Amino acid sequence: MTNIFDQAIPDHVPEELVFPLDVNTHPELETNPFKVLANLHKNAPPIFFNPVPSQGVGGWSISDGAIIKEVLQSPELFSSKNGTGFSFLLGQELDLIPLEIDPPEHRNYRSNFNVPLSPREVAKREDAIRASAIELIETFKSEGHCDFVDQFAVPFPVRIFMDLFGMPQEDFDKILDYEYKLLHVSNTMETRAQAARNIYDYLLDLIADKRANPKDDLASSILDYTVDGRPLTDKEIMGMYFLLFVGGLDTVASSLGFAWRYLASNPTALTALRDNPDLIPSAVEEFFRLHSVVEVRRTVTEDMEFHGVQLKQGDFVYCVTAIASLDGKEFADPTKADFERSPNRHCAFVFGPHRCMGSNLARLEIRIALEEWLNRIPDFSVAEDANIDVNYGSVLSLARLPLVW
Ligand code: HEM
Repeated sequence: MTNIFDQAIPDHVPEELVFPLDVNTHPELETNPFKVLANLHKNAPPIFFNPVPSQGVGGWSISDGAIIKEVLQSPELFSSKNGTGFSFLLGQELDLIPLEIDPPEHRNYRSNFNVPLSPREVAKREDAIRASAIELIETFKSEGHCDFVDQFAVPFPVRIFMDLFGMPQEDFDKILDYEYKLLHVSNTMETRAQAARNIYDYLLDLIADKRANPKDDLASSILDYTVDGRPLTDKEIMGMYFLLFVGGLDTVASSLGFAWRYLASNPTALTALRDNPDLIPSAVEEFFRLHSVVEVRRTVTEDMEFHGVQLKQGDFVYCVTAIASLDGKEFADPTKADFERSPNRHCAFVFGPHRCMGSNLARLEIRIALEEWLNRIPDFSVAEDANIDVNYGSVLSLARLPLVW
């Protein structure tokens, strides 16, 4: 064990539970992270202390899917308060709502989104989403190549979100720029913090604009939400705006990137999907399982023994959703794509009270993207000699994906 690690390890952590998991100790995390995560249970204890997690501050991590689900479903022991680190980036306290609120208050906030993000409501956006997909694909289709990440995966969900939220389309380039700067883990902390503050200021103006000119969009509706029978405060409104902005863009972009990399590298799977479009909805689900992109963080609420490990109040616990989705105890042949897998209770959207509220929209976006892409570009592969690096952070993503057809 080196001194650097020693410094980050609290006294109550036994040496045999220390297991560094980062790109230095596991370089394959930058090329094929899901392979490393699927095999982690063979090398790491079920609960181990990672002094070098992607989110910076050392904490516990878990290599067993069932224990990950238990943590996610025990909010009284594992709190979501300050779970994202955005307050730190912003330089001011801001609870992302409902994500960083614990039960029982959590439900009062969350219930406001039940209708607007329900399958029925998001289905109404299908035509607009399809039009966005087609428009983007048509801009590069005739060229015979593209960088899938920059030209499709990132801009596609941004357009959809701006439409849902009622943001003027002329702000598209600006929003895209903030999004790139905020989310690219390779950017300096100062660049990312500045982007977070730019987004905050943009959303502040948006709140004022929606107040003055309410329209039929999600940003306007949020202004009328209530909690415990009272209207939301301005800070709570910002907490909701900010969460939706940061929660629904890079996650979709990353999921798209990994799915397209898989298809571009597996001609048999590509043919199967192209020839049987009925498989697309269950293939979308299987892609979420194969590539669960989010790592969530919780904070231990009291000193306790958990599965034989001594945890102290204030310790961080990192739950890597990919580890649960690739756990061989639950899923046969976990790293193999099976577009007809059933049941498929993957962990991409977590379990428990904070289960993703945007999953219906995310599913719709990826299904439509697949349908329209396969109609227009039925045969594609990864460009020769392409160097496809993975950004290893709290959301796994592809730095680029050069495709040819
Ligand atoms: C493939 C795309 C997506 C993935 C993988 C994903 C994943 C997740 C995960 C893992 C959580 C739980 C975080 C935690 O427990 O700490 C979450 C929560 C949430 N997501 Fe998503 N998400 C996606 C898309 C979206 C979209 C498009 C939206 C909004 C339109 C959205 C809105 C939310 C909200 C509001 C929560 C908080 C729920 C709560 O705290 O009760 N997500 N998401």
